[in-house]
Amino acid sequence: MAVALAKPAAGEAPSIVRLGDIRFAWPGEGAFSLAVKDFALPARQRILLIGPSGSGKSTFLSLLCGILAPQSGRIEILGQDLTRLGAAARDAFRAEHFGIIFQMFNLLPYGSVVDNVLLPLSFAPGRRRRASASGSAAEEAGRLLARLGLQPSLVRNQSAASLSVGQQQRVAAARALIGAPEIVVADEPTSALDRDRQGAFLDLLFAETGAAGAALIMVSHDETLAPRFDRVLRLADIATTSPPDGRPERRTEGKAEGRPA
Ligand SMILES: Nc1ncnc2c1ncn2[C@@H]1O[C@H](COP(=O)(O)OP(=O)(O)OP(=O)(O)O)[C@@H](O)[C@H]1O
Ligand SMILES: [Mg+2]
Repeated sequence: MAVALAKPAAGEAPSIVRLGDIRFAWPGEGAFSLAVKDFALPARQRILLIGPSGSGKSTFLSLLCGILAPQSGRIEILGQDLTRLGAAARDAFRAEHFGIIFQMFNLLPYGSVVDNVLLPLSFAPGRRRRASASGSAAEEAGRLLARLGLQPSLVRNQSAASLSVGQQQRVAAARALIGAPEIVVADEPTSALDRDRQGAFLDLLFAETGAAGAALIMVSHDETLAPRFDRVLRLADIATTSPPDGRPERRTEGKAEGRPA
């Protein structure tokens, strides 16, 4: 089925992401499973995705970017159904169109900071062209790192593994933003940052995605961030999961409480 990309209603942004009738289960008997009937992300929209730990937020994002393939359903990104692509073509598509800040960062530990930021460009000629539009891609990496409070002189030749967790998170953010991908996916990107850095990080994320006209879907447990987003979604609003909330059973809490330690 064709996606409604070409003819949005007047005044309405076209959807650049559309998931339909998705079913996904991790392997194994009784493993966590997730179903999405219909989810659409309009171009340029900024969504904050919230939900309890283990409820399936990262699984959902991995499906949306084509890292995981669903057992059935459609994942249409910019008019391309990812479920019709092989793994290699999906990887190339993802590198070109998605900027991803993974929950665990996924940096190359022995690569330098700048090499890590430049990495997606090796697989994405369109992003490379945009990143080099006003100078070299390495200069653009330096600009993003500086805006995130990481001075290239300080970190240029350092390996990613030698950085603090908060610094690694910012390198992962620069890597996601370089070359202005159409969709930025950020899985708890501010969890290791202090309040000041968190504010500066969101300013940059919004400025860069705004300038690029990119859509943003960001997971956070911090609901105080909600006013900055166009839409706040709970995972339960868009997906049914089994077990619900990813919790195998409900426990009565506090049994051991009240006892002296
Ligand atoms: N690699 C995996 N293999 C098998 N099961 C997995 C895997 N990753 C996640 N799961 C299962 O999927 C469920 C949802 O996990 P997921 O990481 O998507 O949750 P989450 O909402 O992102 O949690 P958190 O807020 O803690 O990051 C978990 O309960 C877990 O059992
Ligand atoms: Mg997660």
